[in-house]
Amino acid sequence: MSSLHQTKRLTTRGLRKLKGKRPICCLTAYDHPSALVCARAGVELILVGDSLGNVVQGRDDTLGVTLEQLLYHTTLVDRALQQLAHGGSLERLPLLVADLPFLTFHTTPAAAVANAGRCLAEGGAQAVKLEWRPGIDSYTRTLTEAGIPVMGHLGLTPQAVHQLGGYRVQGRGETDAELLLSEIRKLEAAGAFAVVLELVPRELAARLTAAVDIPTIGIGAGPSCDGQILVFHDLLGLGNAAPRHVKRYLEGAELFEQAVGAYIADVREGKFPGAEQSFE
Ligand code: KIV
Repeated sequence: MSSLHQTKRLTTRGLRKLKGKRPICCLTAYDHPSALVCARAGVELILVGDSLGNVVQGRDDTLGVTLEQLLYHTTLVDRALQQLAHGGSLERLPLLVADLPFLTFHTTPAAAVANAGRCLAEGGAQAVKLEWRPGIDSYTRTLTEAGIPVMGHLGLTPQAVHQLGGYRVQGRGETDAELLLSEIRKLEAAGAFAVVLELVPRELAARLTAAVDIPTIGIGAGPSCDGQILVFHDLLGLGNAAPRHVKRYLEGAELFEQAVGAYIADVREGKFPGAEQSFE
């Protein structure tokens, strides 16, 4: 099929235009099957999050996730989107964003551009996400000036778990709230096309959302954000106990265990493989 007939991905510009029009639906995905599910179901944005450290690698935090691992998972998701693009059956494919892992973007501007650039050139992502660090606006400016679209991440930033003293709600006092307001304005001015707000009180999320013209994507930040994001495995009940801000739409692990248990029983009872799964 010629490229003229390929389904296009949503662009960062297209995502920005959704602010104020309709809620933006985002999910993480880390591999080919999860990307197919997310794209076919119609999410507007897929994030290959460094949460893969938790839900795929089974770590307690995200700090051990490397750029190479993040790139590998991004290529798996990209491949699924490319196949769907060729299939042409969907109206629009999601925007693909890669999460820059711990210590991959704030050593030198050149390293930030090189690492983020690999996510686009090798991984197939259209943008990167940066968790807040002091000076995040200057990293954002450096990357956007190099042609790499940036999504910011404010509030709870899991890469700073040891500085924050745990996974707790951020921005509760007025001083912290003012800091976040100033940071989101600086991110917008530096060229970020969207900002994730993680674990902030809902009233503050509403103030942050009203303060900028770029979309806010909430996780544990209440209903006033322009969009929502969840971790794929949390939504489907595939991991350990999910945090309070998660709504589980499936008890996936239980269903998988039942299916695997049925397979084991069939094998032990000589019911699998049956005639239909055997050859003459
Ligand atoms: O790593 C991740 O999956 C994230 C989302 C939870 C926003 O940062």
